[in-house]
Parts: sequence; C-alpha cells; structure tokens
Amino acid sequence: MCGIVGFTGRDNAAPILLDGLKKLEYRGYDSAGVAINGDGVITMVKVSGKINNLCEKTENGAAISGSAGIGHTRWATHGAPNDINAHPHMSMDGKFAIVHNGIIENYAELRLELQESGYEFLSETDTEVIVHLLDHYYDGDLKETIMKTVSRLEGSYALGVICADFPDAVFAARQNSPLILGVGVGENYFASDVTALVSRTKNVIYLDDGELAELSPSNISIFDCIGRPVQKQISRVAWDIEAAEKGGYEHFMLKEIMEQPRAVKAAIEPRVRSGKIAFDELDLTDEYLTNVDRIYITACGSAFHAGQVGKYALEALLGVPIEVDFASEFRYRDPIINERSLVIVISQSGETADTIAALNEAKRRGAKTIAIVNVVGSTIAKTADNVLYTWAGPEIAVATTKGYTTQVAVLYMLSVCLASRLRRISAETEARLTEEILMLPSQIQRAIDLNPHIPYLAKRYHENSSVFFIGRNMDYAACLEGSLKLKEISYIHSEAYAAGELKHGTIALIEPGRLVVCLACCERLFDKMMSNVKEVKARGAKVIGVTAEGRKRIFSEADDVIFVPTAEELFCAVSEIIPLQLFAYHVAKENGCDIDKPKNLAKSVTVE
Ligand code: AGP
Repeated sequence: MCGIVGFTGRDNAAPILLDGLKKLEYRGYDSAGVAINGDGVITMVKVSGKINNLCEKTENGAAISGSAGIGHTRWATHGAPNDINAHPHMSMDGKFAIVHNGIIENYAELRLELQESGYEFLSETDTEVIVHLLDHYYDGDLKETIMKTVSRLEGSYALGVICADFPDAVFAARQNSPLILGVGVGENYFASDVTALVSRTKNVIYLDDGELAELSPSNISIFDCIGRPVQKQISRVAWDIEAAEKGGYEHFMLKEIMEQPRAVKAAIEPRVRSGKIAFDELDLTDEYLTNVDRIYITACGSAFHAGQVGKYALEALLGVPIEVDFASEFRYRDPIINERSLVIVISQSGETADTIAALNEAKRRGAKTIAIVNVVGSTIAKTADNVLYTWAGPEIAVATTKGYTTQVAVLYMLSVCLASRLRRISAETEARLTEEILMLPSQIQRAIDLNPHIPYLAKRYHENSSVFFIGRNMDYAACLEGSLKLKEISYIHSEAYAAGELKHGTIALIEPGRLVVCLACCERLFDKMMSNVKEVKARGAKVIGVTAEGRKRIFSEADDVIFVPTAEELFCAVSEIIPLQLFAYHVAKENGCDIDKPKNLAKSVTVE
C-alpha cells in the first residue's frame, strides 16, 4: 500500500521526509516522491523505482530547501509505476502539491468535469483529480478549499496537502485510510503509520474518518468536515524505533520469526492472573455469551488462517458452531447474522479494507464484534465493540509471522476464557489448558532449536516448481499458513490440502520428485496421516514429515523429518508453524528473493 509523510518545522524538510519514507518501504511500493515548500515556491521531485533513486536525485534531500513538505511511496492501483504517475501531484500553476493513499471511487466523473473546465491531466491516477479540485475551489482560504475539495470525494483517502501561499503549513485529511499525526517540539508531522515518525516523536494523534488537520511548526489544529474544532487525545507509542529495525538480522522476517517467543509471551502474560485467563478488555456479559448461538470469524490471508486454527479450539471448548470466512466473501454473501451472532475479525494491521468492510457489515446487521488486532489505534481496533490487542510489536516484513502466532495465541486464550465463563469446562481442565498456553513461548523456542537443519532442507528442495502441504484437522489449518508463507516469499506454487481429500482428485498431480510436506502432529490422526504419506510416496513424492518429537515411526516413510515439541493437541499450531516459516524463509533465500518486500505484495492491503 501507498505510504505518505508530512513535516513542518525549523529544519530542512526533505531529509526528514526521505527518512520517513524509508521507514515505510516495508509497505511495498514502486515509486516515490517529495514536494517541499521553499518560501512560497514548491519544488517537487519524484521517481519510479526505489527511494534510493530519489535520494540520489536530491542529494539525500540537501538539494531542496524548505522547512515544510510532503512525501509518498506509491503502490500502483491506477496507472503504471512510472515518474508521471508517481506522487506528489501538482496543480497546473504549481501552487498546490498533494500525496494520497487510498482510492477515489468517483475519480472518472470528477476527471471529466475538470477536463471540461479546462484542466489538463498529466497522469493516469485517480489522485490527480484532487489537486485540480483544490485549484478549482481556491479563493485564498486554504482550510475552506480543502473542506470543499474532500466533500466531492467518494472512496478512501489519507491526504497530505501543501500550498505555496502558506510556506510553513501542511494539511492532512482522512477518510477510510489510516493517518497519524506526530506531535514534536517546534515541529509536527503526519504519516500513514507510526513507523515513519516514531524516531522523531512518540507522541501521536490518531485522526478519525472525516477529520482534517492543519499543522504548523508550533501548532496542530484539528477540525471536522464542516470546520468545527475537534479535541483529540495525544497517545504515547509503546515501542522504540529499534523495535522497527533489523537488530542485526539479515531480514526483518527472520528477526520477527525469532521474536515469536517474546511476542507470544507479551500476548499471553497480561491476561493470566492466579492461573486463570481473563480479558479485562472484553465487554460482553455472561448472559449475552450464554445466548450466542453462532460465532463467525472473518479475516484475510494469514489472519484468516489463524481463524481456521481458532475454529478448532473454540468449537472443542465452547460447543458453539464456528464459521470462518474470507472477509472479501463474508461481506458479499448476505451472512445470516442476528443479535445471537458474535463476529470476530482478525487483522495484524487493523487497516485491511475487506476486513474493515466485513466488520462494518457485521455491526450493521446487529452482531456484537470482537477485533483481534496488533496495531494500536488502527481503524479496526477503533471500530469493533471489543478489541483484543496481540501486543506483537511492529511487524515490518510483508509476510506475517509473529502477527499470526500471536493471533492464534489470543484465540486459544479466548477459547479457554469463554469456555470457563460458560462453565463448559471443569476447573481442572481450565487449569491444565492455561498451563499449556503459558508454555507456548517456550514451545516456540524449542521448535526453533529442534530444527537447525531447515537451511539444509531448503537447499535440498528449493528448486521444486510446486509443493503440497497436507494435514488433517488443525494440522490442515496449519498447512494453509505454511503454504502461504512459502508461495508469498519464494514465488514457488504451493497448495494446502486436507490429507483425506487428496485421493478425490488432486493426487493426480503427485508425480515423482514432487515435494509433499505432511503435518502429523495430531496424535489421534497420526496413523491416518501415515497412510496418506504412503499414498503419495507410492506415486514418487518426496515427503517432509512434521510431527511431535519422539514419534519416530515417521522415519519409516518420510524422506526428511521435522520434529516439534509435544503439545496439547488443540494448541499445536503455534509450534508446528515455526519450522514451516523457517523453511519458507530459507527457500526464498536460496532463490534470491526479496524476502521482506515480496513482489506485488503490500504489508497492509488498504484497498479492495
Ligand atoms: C500474510 O503473510 C500476508 N502478509 C497477508 O496474507 C496478510 O495476512 C493479509 O493481507 C491480512 O493482513 P492483516 O492481518 O493486516 O489484516
């Protein structure tokens, strides 16, 4: 997704903007640019490709003077990634420059209207209509001009604006796309997410939809879409910029894989007191919970896979039907929701457009909602009736790892907590399961320590053109995530399949040399899985068997074995995903892929 930054202060703006854009690189982009207001003259420089191209062109910002400006990294939605379509976009007379994250749904009609009024468009973007609207409405009152302009826009925008007539001001406006203000001393900022500004200030203001902000070096004014002042709380960012740095690892992804014991511990520990799990932040009465007759879980990508894992634990412990659906499907399938439905949405970023829409749809239909989210103050966190933060810390790599395992850990805790409140489990079972959950961080560490040979397996199998992950029950749910990890960073085609289903057609694709990763951590289904291993071996497949340490029978059939710690069967997904994350990482490394910023992908998909 696009990233935007803005700065106004006493220092030269360009180097600060470039540094902010570098912190947003992880979001994925294909072009970048800055526009600086230098005493009433706006200078704009933008390039396709990486931010380094921009740094070279501007001598790391030294070549542009001015203490107020805006910057942008573009993830192309309308128009190819090139210098013309890159942001910022400037008005024909050079008075305005803007940067935008989101999609203007009605840009075609606005473009036609503006062209008929004589405006010439240089780019193919939807964004360019905004800068010409500013010019069209401008009468000297910039705040009024921006309000009129955004009132014409339909869709989503996080918008940054500078105007030559206001040398030290930058403006920001937000609708359905995240925008955060940074409160400094003698300087102020805005950005798409906290990562871009936390090195300059940890005091932030989360703009809400429909709000606009005027920033000067000494002041921030916030007002609503009709110009009324709005009072906002200043929040304190809970982590340091080092948390968003690589910390000596070659890639953010590897750092975040290794951080998982700490991240999962951070998700668990605040919620276990005197041996019991409690979610103080959950505002649902026992009476309401007793009346719930269906729970929906909806999310995208890995968050959806976490939901699939959570389904098994919730159904086993609560005895309530759980329906898991892609957010992009949920919102359009006319879900049967009423006041007895509980809807859980899961999102690391809290800004995924499809998940936001699904959440709003669930609320519109009368369901109570719970959000399991990592990014504090994100749109989903602020929209849901209840938010359970995963406390994983900033996740920079596009491919989620600690985001996923902390989501699963919260789902496990929620299952035990609700089952206890509904008296569906005994006190002994609750105590035992709580102990198991408290052991998850050490089990993750053991899953790492048990498998120093993963790089060797990657060397052995990295040239496969297609890989299958098969499993049963929650092993199958873990296969979904293991498969996505491999394909999204190594670009090898991969498919997760319910092991019992393979023989109903897909086994036709198993041919000599085909790699099949068989997850067999569920003890009661181990023999069934061994039969499936034999089936694929009979057709010439190479098999990596993944099972609990000590289950040595798997050696009789598998070509290679990965052991994970023996865990409570309901909770095995958190440790068995670890070697699959590492396998994907090392295969991608063998294949020379851009591991932290895979092609075509973005860290947070804030468009439909
Ligand atoms: C997973 O590695 C991907 N980055 C992607 O599938 C991601 O999980 C999905 O886009 C959902 O993102 P969210 O958790 O921020 O909503």
